[in-house]
Amino acid sequence: MYKKRFKGKMSSEYNLIALAAPQYTDCEKEIGEILKKYFHGQRSNRFEILEIGCGSGFTSEIILKADRRIHLTAVDNEPKMIGQAKRKLAKYAKAKRVKIFRADALDFVKRLKSGNFDAFASALTIHNFNFKYRRKFLLEVYRSLKPGGLFINMDRYAHDDPKVFKEWLEWQIGMYKKVFSELGEDELIEQWVKHEAYDSRPDVIMKMKPALSDMKKAGFKNSKFVYRKRTYSVLTASRAGGA
Ligand SMILES: C[S@@+](CC[C@H](N)C(=O)[O-])C[C@H]1O[C@@H](n2cnc3c(N)ncnc32)[C@H](O)[C@@H]1O
Repeated sequence: MYKKRFKGKMSSEYNLIALAAPQYTDCEKEIGEILKKYFHGQRSNRFEILEIGCGSGFTSEIILKADRRIHLTAVDNEPKMIGQAKRKLAKYAKAKRVKIFRADALDFVKRLKSGNFDAFASALTIHNFNFKYRRKFLLEVYRSLKPGGLFINMDRYAHDDPKVFKEWLEWQIGMYKKVFSELGEDELIEQWVKHEAYDSRPDVIMKMKPALSDMKKAGFKNSKFVYRKRTYSVLTASRAGGA
């Protein structure tokens, strides 16, 4: 069973993360750039995209802005996050370009039809899953994509070298302390530090090489890191088949 990790202040004040992790915004924008290039020149007048962990809708809007033909299925299990996403994405919902679902990620993808999505895009969500859940999840995402379909995950990938990883972690924790104490948000320091400790657990930590190997096991082709700023990285891959 998946442990909910974005309750209370972590949800309501989620957007403050951009201050403590300045690499967050550029890394998110990278998703939009990849999608723009990928769909540019394709003839279809509609592309279906699956986003897991839409949170406040920040990533969702980047996805929707990448190409006017994109239709998004966005999923999250945290009601406060969904509330923010609904407000942020209201104009896209009105234009019938986004549907937002409250559901557990794995339960949701298990119920999807095979070969339905042109692309999967997600940000800062998959690293929250433990190994077992993550592997099952990737298999289902693979199945849900059309042949040749695109996979993009912007996420916290830990460096394979523990020394480098420790350096990055210490830097990030220093940033939480500095930024959130200046804002008088000491509760957030404690919550984000706990969150980092959970992300580093042996059954959760998402290191680069094992992540590529999990992608291969799920069936994906051409898995590679295309962007990286400390732990903030973007991995792309594709479902086998297609043109
Ligand atoms: C760090 S936030 C990222 C939100 C957004 N993508 C962004 O980058 O700003 C991760 C989101 O994933 C959601 N999430 C985590 N695990 C989930 C699960 N098992 N099922 C559904 N949603 C999940 C959380 O509720 C949270 O809103």
